[in-house]
Amino acid sequence: MPEADKEGARYFTDQPQSTPGFYLKGSHQLDWGMKNRMARVFDPSSGRTVMLAIDHGYFQGPTTGLERIDLSIVPLLPQCDALFCTRGILRTVIPAECRKPMVLRASGGPSILREELSDEQIAMDMADAVRLNAAGVGIQVFIGGEHETRSVHNMTKLVDAGLNAGVPVMGITAVGKNMVRDAKYFRLACRIIAELGAHYVKTYYVEDGFETVTASCPVPIVMAGGKKLPELDALTMAYNAVQQGAAGVDMGRNIFQSEAPAAMIAAVGAVVHKNMKPKEAFELFNALKAQGAQGAMRAA
Ligand code: 5RP
Repeated sequence: MPEADKEGARYFTDQPQSTPGFYLKGSHQLDWGMKNRMARVFDPSSGRTVMLAIDHGYFQGPTTGLERIDLSIVPLLPQCDALFCTRGILRTVIPAECRKPMVLRASGGPSILREELSDEQIAMDMADAVRLNAAGVGIQVFIGGEHETRSVHNMTKLVDAGLNAGVPVMGITAVGKNMVRDAKYFRLACRIIAELGAHYVKTYYVEDGFETVTASCPVPIVMAGGKKLPELDALTMAYNAVQQGAAGVDMGRNIFQSEAPAAMIAAVGAVVHKNMKPKEAFELFNALKAQGAQGAMRAA
């Protein structure tokens, strides 16, 4: 016999059920599964993320620092909030015991050997993202590029599939080899990507007017790292980006090509989640570097 429902104080009839909002910009009306996946990527306590981008092999092959992902990247996993990688690397190298959220590269086509990189197609089925328990997928969008319409259409198809499955889509402002990088361009590109349904946008930092890029984009922006800079410069760029409205970073080369990647990701984490100033974060980097990888791991 089922246990009888008991009347009494446990119904808290004097307390209305709570109606929590959601901490990420433009995400409050998403369904539960979407929000839950976003909350795995963006730390709810800071509202920000340190994603480690290691997807470069999808068009560059064995990029410097990613020749042996088992040796260079797997030890860094405890220190990131999420990993951005290809499904090939996920299946072959990333241990399935890893509890970190995985965001999967879902576009591809031309290799670095081609002059025109915008000739991409969707390179992964959403069903496979779900099978792999992905927390999201990412795709290049070449606004102004030769194959602009196709790359926009690739993204909108992926967004439709993502909405169907509850998997958020990160649209990436792809600049190819020669496109202009200024606030005017990134405002345009980020806004188009968000208007067409991406759940968050990855874009580059610009010195002049980055806050107008984040302000006019209705969904969270994560800062792309770009080519390797001296550590203090990379930490300064990450600091400025989050202070000017970015919801974190998706950085690759500036972490895994650092002379001390574990120390660098810890310093980036302090900038992103604790608003640590660049100089202080650089001192942290140097201190952790001096202690070796173990020191950086303890700081995580
Ligand atoms: C380019 C990408 C990359 O493949 C990658 O994620 C870039 O990372 P980084 O520039 O920080 O090395 O998304 O748009």
